[in-house]
Amino acid sequence: MLSASLFMQAGLLLVGYFVFTLFCYRKVIVAKWQTHKQRNAKTLIAYASESGSGKKLAHELHTELKTQGDLALCLTLNQVTEQQLNQTDTLLIIASTYGEGEAPDNGRHFLDKLSKLKSTLSHLNYAVLALGDREYSQYCQFGLALNQALKSKLCKPLFEPILVNKLDENSINEWNSNLLSKGLLKQAVPRSMLSATHPPIQQLKLTDRQQVNINSPGAPLFEINLAVPSGLTWQAGDIARLHIQDTVREYSIASVPQEQSLKLLVREQKHPSGELGLGSGWLCHQADLNSTQAFSIRANTKFNPLGMHKKLILIGNGSGLAGLRGHLKHREIKQHHENWLLYGERCAEHDLPWHRELTEWFNAKHLTEIDLAFSRQSTNSNIKVGRCHSGYVQDAMLAQQTKLKDWVNNGAAIFICGSLQGMAKDVESMLLDILGEPVLSRLERQGLYRKDVY
Ligand SMILES: Cc1cc2nc3c(=O)[nH]c(=O)nc-3n(C[C@H](O)[C@H](O)[C@H](O)COP(=O)(O)OP(=O)(O)OC[C@H]3O[C@@H](n4cnc5c(N)ncnc54)[C@H](O)[C@@H]3O)c2cc1C
Ligand SMILES: Cc1cc2nc3c(=O)[nH]c(=O)nc-3n(C[C@H](O)[C@H](O)[C@H](O)COP(=O)(O)O)c2cc1C
Repeated sequence: MLSASLFMQAGLLLVGYFVFTLFCYRKVIVAKWQTHKQRNAKTLIAYASESGSGKKLAHELHTELKTQGDLALCLTLNQVTEQQLNQTDTLLIIASTYGEGEAPDNGRHFLDKLSKLKSTLSHLNYAVLALGDREYSQYCQFGLALNQALKSKLCKPLFEPILVNKLDENSINEWNSNLLSKGLLKQAVPRSMLSATHPPIQQLKLTDRQQVNINSPGAPLFEINLAVPSGLTWQAGDIARLHIQDTVREYSIASVPQEQSLKLLVREQKHPSGELGLGSGWLCHQADLNSTQAFSIRANTKFNPLGMHKKLILIGNGSGLAGLRGHLKHREIKQHHENWLLYGERCAEHDLPWHRELTEWFNAKHLTEIDLAFSRQSTNSNIKVGRCHSGYVQDAMLAQQTKLKDWVNNGAAIFICGSLQGMAKDVESMLLDILGEPVLSRLERQGLYRKDVY
């Protein structure tokens, strides 16, 4: 009897020791399992996606492959390594195009990596699903560039790239049927994707519209306010989508739901004929007060607030102040007060939207630093906050480079909002000059470098 209980105790001790050892080595075990999976994965799904549709399609395909028992990996294009390319049989790429025919951020290093490979990849079968929008002159250009680059490495196309205009369902079905006919899929991928991508559309009422840059040398800029129906919610950094004449125009949301108004900052745009732009024309001029139009909200996780409190450097120009204001308002509510705004516009006399609110935030030390850059000299200015610079926002960054480095060294995150061509590219190359590539890459990896640029 005694000996049986002793055996039991010894057994329990052993089991306890075993569980404890597993617990201590859990990270090593998980890492080993991941490496094993990666080594044995024969199919690699790689995506490059900015607003998430490509990512979603890639994950759905991944789930389907796993369900049918295949060893498959799903990564962003930037994460794909040379070793993985060498070990994989099949590469399935889902890539959207951004900027003017460029890669989304999470795919922008891949072509360079591929061009630097010393060996060819003649063992690799591949297919490309290129997401894009025919309204852009460089239609699906990044997907097409990937196809060319893979061909030049002697990879074998399973079929020609499939170009998808505005997530057209027929083209996505064609991609799935091609994967079926090549034996990569054993059954069609459930079509949950498209409905899940499109959030519900609601009629929102225009309650107020004010031009915020009267007499500016630039095109008129308007603050637009829309009534918020009950149940409609969003996070700072999300995007409002105006559905108009069978098409969509996106606008950064400048407010938070607690303000009970969905606020936008919209630049009037005109075609060379003088005709008003479709979306901006409606918002800035044609819509009557109290009229309604169809809107939906697009979650924009890559530009949502950080999950923790950090100092924040907010950089933008023109209508990009919209996305930055959303964050400032969110942080005011959260009482996260160490904020630095660097903002560029044309002239100090007429071009500082929300001047009064920025001044109040500055006086209340919610905004601890403000640097404003104006590209046109003006003799007169009512601006009483922060430092004014002549030139562009990147010139203000250069003038403040020591402080900028200090903030980043003290854990600050950097958020950028505004035009891609007119600002974000120059801002990014200035950040590279000031902080260096390793620091900017680290911030990006840690989710501390976020952009909403268009
Ligand atoms: C994520 C995101 C966020 C955005 N946030 C904002 C924001 O906060 N505020 C904001 O104002 N905008 C924002 N935009 C831009 C906005 O979505 C629209 O692109 C903008 O309002 C112009 O649309 P439109 O319908 O008024 O003009 P469109 O009718 O689409 O015309 C756009 C412009 O294209 C040019 N163009 C069109 N046709 C021709 C032609 N034949 N020849 C030469 N040029 C031509 C003209 O310059 C014209 O003004 C954002 C875009 C994105 C993607
Ligand atoms: C700012 C911006 C720039 C874009 N540029 C292009 C382009 O140059 N060529 C193209 O075909 N599509 C372009 N698109 C359309 C996107 O590629 C398309 O909406 C795609 O479905 C987005 O997929 P994602 O959600 O995976 O990023 C652009 C979209 C935006 C918002």
